[in-house]
Amino acid sequence: MHNPQPIPGYLLQSPEVRARFERLQQREVILEVKDLGKTFDSAQGETVALRNINFKTHRREFVCVIGPSGCGKSTLIRILAGLESHTTGEVLLDGKPVDGPGPDRGMVFQGYTLFPWLSVKQNVMFGPEMNGHGKLQAEREARQWIDLVGLSKFVDAYPHQLSGGMKQRVAIARALANQPRILLMDEPFGALDAQTRGKMQAHMLDIWKNIDITVLFITHDLDEAIFLADRILVLKAHPGEVQELIEVPVPRPRHTGQVTSAEFLATRARLEELIHPPVQPGSAEEDEIRPQVFRMTNVEDNVE
Ligand SMILES: Nc1ncnc2c1ncn2[C@@H]1O[C@H](COP(=O)(O)OP(=O)(O)OP(=O)(O)O)[C@@H](O)[C@H]1O
Ligand SMILES: [Mg+2]
Repeated sequence: MHNPQPIPGYLLQSPEVRARFERLQQREVILEVKDLGKTFDSAQGETVALRNINFKTHRREFVCVIGPSGCGKSTLIRILAGLESHTTGEVLLDGKPVDGPGPDRGMVFQGYTLFPWLSVKQNVMFGPEMNGHGKLQAEREARQWIDLVGLSKFVDAYPHQLSGGMKQRVAIARALANQPRILLMDEPFGALDAQTRGKMQAHMLDIWKNIDITVLFITHDLDEAIFLADRILVLKAHPGEVQELIEVPVPRPRHTGQVTSAEFLATRARLEELIHPPVQPGSAEEDEIRPQVFRMTNVEDNVE
């Protein structure tokens, strides 16, 4: 197995960062994943999507999950949400086994999952109403969550009248309206342009620090993971296993100026090393990633 030497830089923590992690570890455990495994049976044969996954998240912790495409990130979050069964191990939320979906877990996906025929307010009221809150109460709660995500002016708008970033803010308000113990987010900003994504990341941190919520956030984007997370769970593919659980040494509060700091760059280098190990020239793997292209023009002038 590829086993690079760790770069000491990302393991170095300032006394403040060290103290914050010590406080975090003293908080109660919200989610515990024990020896979790998932095997899919299909016509093509068995796929071991996840194997031996073990981790805990503490109350109000922000954990990001990264890993190459197909390593089982969405499968993991779907199991945690109770939308998918698991083959081995167990998932405990507040010490109780997860068995199917429940309002104690809020989900936000990449695709816009709002009900198109309902207004912003009605989308956000939906959960509280389903949980038996009266209409007036549900409406009051919905307005509070809509204010929190900065969409007070759009309570009566319909999803098609909103930008991609605004739709995701409604999706976050809708998930929070059920007052879940944990927010499970699967590449929620993956479809947004870079500028909107940056604003959403900062907004996400503002929300997180102001309410009692634990977040598990899947992303492909290494910088996004470092900017948001307390800890980053790094998975590898085939089978999906935990490679490392990294404590992000970048101090809080986070700001965009930190992307060039020594802590940020050292963490990024470690993630690059884990996620994109160097491919041997001429290997089958390189052939797959960058197939050879034959010259198909007689034009003599070379473009480079
Ligand atoms: N319903 C299913 N039936 C069979 N195999 C599946 C099913 N769902 C996922 N898989 C397989 O499990 C593995 C993990 O898939 P998953 O979607 O969890 O990966 P991912 O890390 O979320 O990928 P991406 O980064 O592209 O979103 C893949 O090999 C995939 O083909
Ligand atoms: Mg996925």
